[in-house]
Amino acid sequence: MLPAVSPLSSSYSLSEYSSTSPSSVGHELQEENAISQRSSVRLPSPFYPPSLVQKFQECDSQALIPRGLPSYLNLPNMPTESACSDIDSPDLGTPDAWIPRDPRLVRLTGKHPFNTEAKLRDLYAEGFITSSNLFFVRNHGAVPKIDQERADNWQLKVHGLCANPTTLTLEDLRTKFQVVTIPITLVCAGNRRKEQNVVQQSLGFSWGAAGLSTALFTGVYLADILAFVHPNRWAKHVVFEGADELPNGPYGTSQLLSWATDAQKRMIISWAMNGLALEPDHGYPLRLVVPGQIGGRSVKWLNRIELSSVESQHHLHFHDNKVLPMPLGPDQARKEKKWWYDPRYIIRDLNVNSAIAQPDHEEILDTLLALRPTYTIKGYAYAGGGRRVTRVEISFDSGTTWELAFIKYPEDAYRTVSFASDPIYGDLDMREVDTCFCWCFWSFEVSLERLKNNNAIVVRGMDEALALQPRDMYWNATGMMNNWWFRVVIHHLE
Ligand code: MTE
Repeated sequence: MLPAVSPLSSSYSLSEYSSTSPSSVGHELQEENAISQRSSVRLPSPFYPPSLVQKFQECDSQALIPRGLPSYLNLPNMPTESACSDIDSPDLGTPDAWIPRDPRLVRLTGKHPFNTEAKLRDLYAEGFITSSNLFFVRNHGAVPKIDQERADNWQLKVHGLCANPTTLTLEDLRTKFQVVTIPITLVCAGNRRKEQNVVQQSLGFSWGAAGLSTALFTGVYLADILAFVHPNRWAKHVVFEGADELPNGPYGTSQLLSWATDAQKRMIISWAMNGLALEPDHGYPLRLVVPGQIGGRSVKWLNRIELSSVESQHHLHFHDNKVLPMPLGPDQARKEKKWWYDPRYIIRDLNVNSAIAQPDHEEILDTLLALRPTYTIKGYAYAGGGRRVTRVEISFDSGTTWELAFIKYPEDAYRTVSFASDPIYGDLDMREVDTCFCWCFWSFEVSLERLKNNNAIVVRGMDEALALQPRDMYWNATGMMNNWWFRVVIHHLE
């Protein structure tokens, strides 16, 4: 008998989340005047600071810095600018036809808008830092087409209930505030939604377990910008707005002012990812990055920040990124608007989660195991709000008994290195920082005998607040924050 592994269920239906923009499909083809933004958006070398390279040179396979240039222009099988107008370009006929994209990304909502994750095995193989071409993408509509000139003149308006409203250019941000670089894992609230959709179709499309990625984000602290504009005493919320044009207005959401001014939360206004200008899909030229919270709070193509007495009034601030009560089915949720406006159901911090990356679903283990008596099960885990994952446990008997996995925290390596005033990265200094804003990796060595004698591998994690991944799925109408035990089923082949 040879073991093979497969997901809990193998047939998944894909469907688009109702709030995405079907109307933007079929926009006029613009590839004729598609301009080459690729070369113009790159920041000059060095790609990463020498001190960082030196420090991590001896590191093992879990890359702590991006492997080589993340530019897909350097990869053999990536589309080139001219290939983008080829008949085969998957984006042909969409407003995004001008954007070259890594063909290894799995498109989750058909052609457009672009919503993708890498295959989990590819993402895991990247190591700690994800190259920006394999970084997951969640776009509600077309990517704003911003050329170098518009980017150079990009204006971030900061206004509302404050003493010193202002408009900042990228140059202002780079020169008037401390520039910092921080490793941050972004996670879509829909990560692992596929499993919820198998139980009952939710309003959202089927993310696998690769709806997350990690990058070195460079920018300035939001707290510094807020200190500069002096919020007045009526300000309670900070509202952020992007430049994308969606059917119900621009994308926007907000943070509580008390959180946004807390430097420990490390929210940044960022223009670079892994040492290069943001890719168009990731918010070029400017985005908010909110560590420890769901990705939906990290507004891309950021052009407006408003101090306000009320939370964001943007359509998707209310109609997205909510965990509605379980009894509410998708139809009721769609019809009864009141649920979406209940502030109790908003999602801010991520919940603790983990997944098995090796063995991969459908992986056949026979030849591998014939050579070795043991097999290493591997995966990732993360928690929200800056909390550390304190344990990862594995069960081979569906949760009756558990064993501890070994955890590696690559983020901690950044606490041992520091540099200041690097021309690209600014300052990196995490020595005094106790929060965890990145994923960690776990592993567990198992004998062939145990795999042969069991039917499933189950993993769960716990965080510093002792929050434990639940046994049962909390199915909800948006299919968000799915974090029940992750299972890989072992099939015994004759
Ligand atoms: N910002 C704008 N302006 N428009 C968007 O569609 N999507 C949000 C967020 N910021 C979005 C946005 C969501 S839901 C997620 S999960 C993250 O961006 C994804 O960031 P990424 O595409 O860079 O991975």
